[in-house]
Order: sequence, then C-alpha cells, then structure tokens
Amino acid sequence: MRPLNIVLFGVGNVGSTLIRQILADKQHFHEAGIDLKIPVIANSRLAFFEKENLHSSWETDLGSFGFPYELEDILKYVKDKDYKNLVAVDATASNNFVDNYQRLVEAGFHIVAANKVANSLPFEVYKNFRETLKEHKKQFLYETNVGAGLPIIQTLQGLHQAGEKITRVRGVFSGSLSYIFNTFSEEDKTFAEVLDEAQLKGFTEPDPRVDLSGKDVGRKLLILARELNLRKDLSEVQIQDLVPAHLNGTTSLAHFRKNQEHLNPDFQELKKSLKEDEVLRHVGELDLVKQELQVKLVKEKKASAFGNLKHADASFEIYTESYGEQPIVIQGAGAGAAVTARGVLSDLIKLAQNLKNEDSTQKTEQRLSL
Ligand SMILES: NC(=O)c1ccc[n+]([C@@H]2O[C@H](COP(=O)([O-])OP(=O)(O)OC[C@H]3O[C@@H](n4cnc5c(N)ncnc54)[C@H](OP(=O)(O)O)[C@@H]3O)[C@@H](O)[C@H]2O)c1
Repeated sequence: MRPLNIVLFGVGNVGSTLIRQILADKQHFHEAGIDLKIPVIANSRLAFFEKENLHSSWETDLGSFGFPYELEDILKYVKDKDYKNLVAVDATASNNFVDNYQRLVEAGFHIVAANKVANSLPFEVYKNFRETLKEHKKQFLYETNVGAGLPIIQTLQGLHQAGEKITRVRGVFSGSLSYIFNTFSEEDKTFAEVLDEAQLKGFTEPDPRVDLSGKDVGRKLLILARELNLRKDLSEVQIQDLVPAHLNGTTSLAHFRKNQEHLNPDFQELKKSLKEDEVLRHVGELDLVKQELQVKLVKEKKASAFGNLKHADASFEIYTESYGEQPIVIQGAGAGAAVTARGVLSDLIKLAQNLKNEDSTQKTEQRLSL
C-alpha cells in the first residue's frame, strides 16, 4: 500500500468535499494500492494535526483542537513524523497562498492546486517555479484550474505531447456567464433580472462584476495557452468587460446593485439583433496560429455545441490538424464543489501512480547496475 500524505490547505466548499470523498471512497483507493492520508488540515487561521486517521468529526476537531499556525510549524511537524510522499493541496481561495509553493517544494512536497493563481502569475515567475519543481523532482498538478472536473488540461497536454498541431481552442469557460446568457437568450427577462436570478442561485461571485469583467475567463485562457507553450501574460489577453465604466469595480457594490438596470438597454439591443437561429454566448478563444487570446460575447448558432448549452454548463472545442473542421468537444458542469473535489482527487491518484512508476523504474535501474 502506497501512502500519500496530504496536507490540505483550505476546507471551504472544495476542501471539505474533498475530505468527504476521500473518507467515503477509502476502500476503493485501498483496492488500487493507494492509501490517502490527511495528517494536516488548515484554513486561513487554524491548523489541525491528526494523530491517527482523519475521520468524519474533522470539522469539530479543527474548531476545537486547531491552533493558529505558521507554515514552518507544519513543515516541522511532517519532518519530525518523517512522512513520505507529501503533497500540499491548495484548495484555498487566496491570492497569496501561492507565495508558499516554493518553500513547500523545497521541503519535499508535491503540489496539487484547485487555486489557479500560480498558473496565471507573470510568465517569468511561472517559468521559475517550473525550474524549482524540476530541480527538486516534484510534481505540480492542477487539472481543476480550467473546467473544474472536466478533463481539459490533460486532453490538451496529451494531444500536445503526441505532436498533434492544435490550431484553436474555444470555450464557454464560466458557469455563471453560461447560466446568464443561456437564460437571457431564451427567456423574456431583462438582463438585470437574469443577473439577480443567477446570484440567488449561487452561480455568481458575491460581486457579479467579478464574473462580468471576464478576468477569470481570461486567466483560464492564459493557463491553456501556456500549456501549449505560448509565452503570454494576462495583460496580453483581450478581454471584453461587460460592465460599463460608470458601474465598474471602482464604485461600490451597493451602487452597482442600485443601478444595474442601466445594463438593460444595451443587452436588450444586442438580443434584438439576434437572428431567429442565434443566441448569445460568452466565450474565450485561443487562436494558436495568430497567437491571440480573446474573451468576448458572441452570437452563436442555436444548433452549435455552444448554442445548445443548458443551465450553467461549460463547453470546450479543441481544433487540431488531424480533427480538421470537427473539433473535439468536452462539455458538462464546469463548476461546483463535488465535480471540482473529484478533479482534485483524480490529480492525487495520478500523482500516487506516477510515484509508484518512479519507484519501480528506480528499482529496475538499481537491479541493472548491480
Ligand atoms: N468552487 C468551484 O466550483 C471551483 C472550481 C474550480 C476551482 N475552484 C478553486 O478552488 C479553490 C477553493 O474554492 P472554494 O469554493 O472551496 O472556496 P471557499 O469555499 O471560499 O474556501 C476557501 C478556503 O480557503 C481557506 N483559505 C483562505 N486563505 C487561506 C490561506 N492563506 N491559508 C490556508 N487556507 C486559506 C479558507 O479559510 P477561512 O475560512 O479561514 O477563510 C477556506 O477554508 C479556489 O481557488 C477556487 O477558485 C473552485
């Protein structure tokens, strides 16, 4: 049985679901020869060190026995315990937690991240971190950075590694914007009404301008571009901000809420301009021939893959030389705690299997050198 010792940072929607999934499916992983242990869990304030096995009372344990911590406390604890196969899971929603990655890797951790900050930092920082990983022979997996549990990154990596020429990637990346434009295109409601509805259903961020700004989609597009060896930065992504200047992020959320009806006339005009067989969709487009990245609102044919989208689903089209005009399409829930945690879990299993393969290669090499 190969143990993987997980230090979990962030026990919000994704982190807590991940713990539940690991506890529920323990037997399944054991049968595959993998023992997922979680000796440490931490939120932004408290860390809890588990002596035996983490169990279903973890939340109470963190509240009752957790203590304020520094990263170095955790590093010392896992060193003293001599834990092997360490992995730090970044399930935080923090912009700053990434500052710990270098130290974690130096201390012997692999990294699995749901948080997409590390992959959208300036290119030099992105590149230097990959050098650090190489130097310390550590792995970094982040499938859920784009499309949550959908296998987007691994599909692109597989095609790219196999030498397939990828010419274009298009996607409805955002669950919230998918819901907003799927509903607005089809139903007789104003844009502000649809926005309220999306917020009530929990699809948007507390400040919906974060979604409407298109920045998050821009980040995801950048992550895909970098997977395909494009040396790009966020400032080079052309992003259409759907919030007019007088309602943008520099004004208060309350001001935006009070005046969000000002968005209605322009969106209504756009809706009126749609042909019978068209709908509005919010897409990210990566053109690998022109090396351009764009985030924008477009008119799509109802009969197309994007035009057919329902609810808050995401959809991705990958155009390559061999597939010609008919792209590979990957579609489904592109957000949500259950699918995202399962995606993180899938990265953890992949990591455990990679480590197993490394071990057997090392053993073979040792045998051959005897
Ligand atoms: N939800 C999705 O559908 C989805 C999909 C793909 C990717 N993701 C990514 O997954 C990550 C987690 O999302 P979520 O929805 O679970 O967020 P969340 O519910 O807001 O939970 C965030 C967790 O991170 C902790 N945290 C914040 N800063 C920290 C720090 N410096 N050190 C340790 N813990 C820290 C928070 O602790 P406190 O409670 O103490 O603040 C909280 O436990 C985000 O990066 C998100 O972008 C989410």
